Amino acid sequence: MSMFSFSAAAVLLSSVIVPVVGQSSSSCSTTLTPTNSIKPSLAPGYRAALVATGLTDPRSIEFDSSGNLLVVQAGAGVESLQLQDNGGTCVTLNHGLALSQDGKTLYASSAEAAYSWDYDPATSTASKTNTTLVSNMKTDDHTTRTLLMSQKVNGTLLISRGSTSNIDPEAETLSSGHSQIRAFNLLNITSDGYDFDTDGLRLGWGLRNSVGVAEHPTTGGIYSVENSVDQATRDGQDVHEDNPGEEMNFHGYLNGTEYAPQGSNYGYPYCFAAWAPSDLPMNSNLTIGSQFAIGNQNNTINDTYCAEQTPPRLTFQAHMAPLDIVFNNSGNDGWVTFHGSWDRTDPSGYKVSTIQFADGEPVAPANSNTSYTDIFANANNGVCPNNCFRPVSMAFDSQGRMFVSSDASGEIYVVVRDEASNGTVAGNSSSGSSGGKTSGADRLGSSVGALVFAALAICMMT
Ligand SMILES: *[C@@H]1O[C@H](CO)[C@@H](O)[C@H](O)[C@H]1NC(C)=O
Ligand SMILES: *[C@@H]1O[C@H](CO)[C@@H](O)[C@H](O)[C@H]1NC(C)=O
Ligand SMILES: *[C@@H]1O[C@H](CO)[C@@H](O)[C@H](O)[C@H]1NC(C)=O
Ligand SMILES: *[C@@H]1O[C@H](CO)[C@@H](O)[C@H](O)[C@H]1NC(C)=O
Ligand SMILES: *[C@@H]1O[C@H](CO)[C@@H](O)[C@H](O)[C@H]1NC(C)=O
Ligand SMILES: *[C@@H]1O[C@H](CO)[C@@H](O)[C@H](O)[C@H]1NC(C)=O
Ligand SMILES: *[C@@H]1O[C@H](CO)[C@@H](O)[C@H](O)[C@H]1NC(C)=O
Ligand SMILES: *[C@@H]1O[C@H](CO)[C@@H](O)[C@H](O)[C@H]1NC(C)=O
Ligand SMILES: *[C@@H]1O[C@H](CO)[C@@H](O)[C@H](O)[C@H]1NC(C)=O
Ligand SMILES: *[C@@H]1O[C@H](CO)[C@@H](O)[C@H](O)[C@H]1NC(C)=O
Ligand SMILES: *[C@@H]1O[C@H](CO)[C@@H](O)[C@H](O)[C@H]1NC(C)=O
Repeated sequence: MSMFSFSAAAVLLSSVIVPVVGQSSSSCSTTLTPTNSIKPSLAPGYRAALVATGLTDPRSIEFDSSGNLLVVQAGAGVESLQLQDNGGTCVTLNHGLALSQDGKTLYASSAEAAYSWDYDPATSTASKTNTTLVSNMKTDDHTTRTLLMSQKVNGTLLISRGSTSNIDPEAETLSSGHSQIRAFNLLNITSDGYDFDTDGLRLGWGLRNSVGVAEHPTTGGIYSVENSVDQATRDGQDVHEDNPGEEMNFHGYLNGTEYAPQGSNYGYPYCFAAWAPSDLPMNSNLTIGSQFAIGNQNNTINDTYCAEQTPPRLTFQAHMAPLDIVFNNSGNDGWVTFHGSWDRTDPSGYKVSTIQFADGEPVAPANSNTSYTDIFANANNGVCPNNCFRPVSMAFDSQGRMFVSSDASGEIYVVVRDEASNGTVAGNSSSGSSGGKTSGADRLGSSVGALVFAALAICMMT
């Protein structure tokens, strides 16, 4: 799909950003100017607008039940982009964020632990004291500890924990807790809290760094998106440019429905998914998405062994670095953010794409290399990673508008389907260029523009 560039409109806003947990207050400015001179591009049939800038490394975003947008700013804290005050302590929350089903408990994570606070969405205030729910997660390198609160099975909190390094030998030992996704029942938690390594329901291991986790809205199936290995070699050859692919894995259900591979090994640190099988030496048995062994195969770790580990449900281009997955209400659209990576000569990722689902499953087969459609991207990845849009987290509001954070540029954008749009930013009808229409798209576009900003009253920090 071709992409069209646009300029973001300047918008007048008036509001305050107030800390919920872990950060001090900041003053606001009234005009939004894109951080980078090269703005993101948009597919025809969508509209987008910049709604917040000047944030400090914004990572996970989540709407509370009052419609306030909560944002984790890495190394700082959680803020509500609206509302009233409450003190809060100084902690190093860095990525994870979730709310309970009833909206009255806020969850956030550091590299070491997941915590909860009582939360009042009417005033966007959190309790001063926290409860430590799950601990013993301290590892270096991949530290995001993504949180997902099940909407299907009340009180079930999923935590995804990455590896200590590119290839983490400890991840091959189940008891290390490295590179695993686990689900914890918070309804019967004791005051000791849970230990990540030994408690909870294991949804999978051998998952290098699965930063994005989502629950399908109709089936309750759990999907994750995984950042795969850098600098891969095989049989003495450098194969890193287009291998391995990034992965989307399926982990079954939380409500007791049987799914045999739930909790199984998904390959890491030995097995990875082929993206360009023809670039791999000794590739006779490999297709797109096949798990193959990196390094030198031997009589224990080889392609035969790898073929026995749980394969990805979908494979994406190498090094795009997927960080989040969310479904729209119908579950027919899975949106994925690709943060982008350094480990490719021609940078890949730095975009938001959609994946078609039907009956809780991706429509594309596991060996597809065209399963995703790009929606929101950079016109020129050559200026990445420092001077471009680097998407991290997404959240739908109650009207089905998709919001996406960009950590490197400190921004939040809103994106909607709009059949009539050819890739314009709301509020600036002179930008964009001619392009095709997306059939069957939602007609949400009319509500994007000044209305979005006024309704959300999201402001800029200085
Ligand atoms: C709208 O876009 C055009 C073309 O990119 C640009 O020249 C103009 O300054 C923009 N207007 C506003 C209000 O941002
Ligand atoms: C949780 O509370 C403890 C005890 O007051 C405090 O030391 C810790 O920093 C708090 N953690 C977070 C993430 O706020
Ligand atoms: C979920 O659990 C919480 C905490 O025990 C409880 O207050 C709430 O009523 C439960 N919600 C549902 C829908 O069962
Ligand atoms: C809570 O219930 C789960 C099963 O849902 C169980 O695995 C876990 O051990 C229980 N936790 C405690 C602290 O009893
Ligand atoms: C789990 O949820 C799915 C989807 O709602 C449902 O079809 C299935 O029967 C449920 N399984 C159990 C064991 O409740
Ligand atoms: C086989 O390869 C694996 C992965 O590279 C390595 O950890 C293991 O030590 C090797 N085994 C032998 C017997 O060489
Ligand atoms: C591959 O490894 C498996 C064990 O994982 C072993 O049974 C098999 O013999 C190995 N194949 C070769 C060709 O070494
Ligand atoms: C690859 O396929 C060939 C022929 O289908 C088979 O003989 C061989 O055992 C397979 N090798 C591996 C490593 O699976
Ligand atoms: C979800 O996606 C489907 C397919 O694109 C679309 O028909 C539906 O309206 C979308 N729903 C929401 C709430 O965005
Ligand atoms: C997908 O794979 C086919 C070969 O199966 C290849 O010709 C094509 O270039 C690949 N497309 C992408 C986007 O990598
Ligand atoms: C598409 O873009 C072109 C060029 O900017 C503009 O003339 C045209 O009106 C746009 N069409 C729609 C439907 O927005």
